[in-house]
Amino acid sequence: MDALITLLPGDGIGPEVTKSGRSILDTIGKEFGHNFSFSEQHIGGSGIDHCNDPLPSNTISSCNESNAVILGAVGGPKWDNPNAKIRPEQGLLGLRAALKVFANIRPVQIIPSLSNASPLKNHLLKDVDLLVIRELTGGIYFGEKKRNKSSASDLCIYHDYEVERIIRVAAKLAKTRKNKLCSVDKANVLETSRLWRDITTKTMSSEFPDTAIEHILVDAAAMYLINRPADFDVIVTENMFGDILTDEASMLSGSMGMLPSASLGESSVGLYEPIHGSAPDIAGKGIANPCGMIGSVALLLRHSLNLNEEADLLEQAIYDAIEGGARTADIATNNENILSTDEMTNVIINRLKK
Ligand code: IPM
Ligand code: MG
Repeated sequence: MDALITLLPGDGIGPEVTKSGRSILDTIGKEFGHNFSFSEQHIGGSGIDHCNDPLPSNTISSCNESNAVILGAVGGPKWDNPNAKIRPEQGLLGLRAALKVFANIRPVQIIPSLSNASPLKNHLLKDVDLLVIRELTGGIYFGEKKRNKSSASDLCIYHDYEVERIIRVAAKLAKTRKNKLCSVDKANVLETSRLWRDITTKTMSSEFPDTAIEHILVDAAAMYLINRPADFDVIVTENMFGDILTDEASMLSGSMGMLPSASLGESSVGLYEPIHGSAPDIAGKGIANPCGMIGSVALLLRHSLNLNEEADLLEQAIYDAIEGGARTADIATNNENILSTDEMTNVIINRLKK
């Protein structure tokens, strides 16, 4: 197949892990006879530095013309002035809105030999396999923001159709798994959460009567993710709760550097990014863990290009590389030989070669 992929390396370790993602796609292309071509564009701080815009118009048009988009990370201390009018994060949020990718899929799986890298006790991690579906283009991230001399506000608004469509995505995915959906809200306090719960209840009973649904308050969900994470199958939640809970959930897998994500909308043009940030403390050192990015490439192959065999093979290659003892610094626990970003990528690439 022919496919055009826009690469948005962004800031910090973003360019280093994006390079890994590209090498993986080059290898998959060679091994399976696909022709992947790439268009590299600026976003975030790199957009501000090169084009004075965190989301340059060339970036948006390239993304719209592509089959899929890969993003490294945005942000860093260089652009962290809280009073600045333009910020790197506006590039990422603007892109999510422009591509209308309202459903952010964040799988959390445990690779057995990494259980010592997690701060949780081993027995709690047994059988953990969960999927967080985060609403990505609504809620407090996108409501009106105001700042006066002595006060500030961020409007949190959800519309019924926004809840309905994300619940559908989550319920459909639950059906392919253990058929158990957990909706997380704060319905004891927030009106948006009461709307969320009402629409969820209605949608589930009319369209997914065979899927188990439970509603959990976000504070309790944060606790259950630590004391009984294996009980979850699919979690669906609003934008900010999903942001917070997925950083927490990443600790189950041993490192934030392990977690991939896919952001999807109505069309097949998806946005694929590791959930980690730009990690300025290790940027430029070539030591970042590329697994979150490489897992995101697997999701791209599956969800945007419909290349399921290639996606399965790639996920297996990540799993086997880790089980075989390959470790970047963030997931090393014993005296393992610590691999650089490129070395870890090559271990995975070698497992893809036929
Ligand atoms: C994420 C990140 C972003 C978010 C930031 C960089 C704006 O934390 O993708 O989880 O909050 O969505
Ligand atoms: Mg986050």
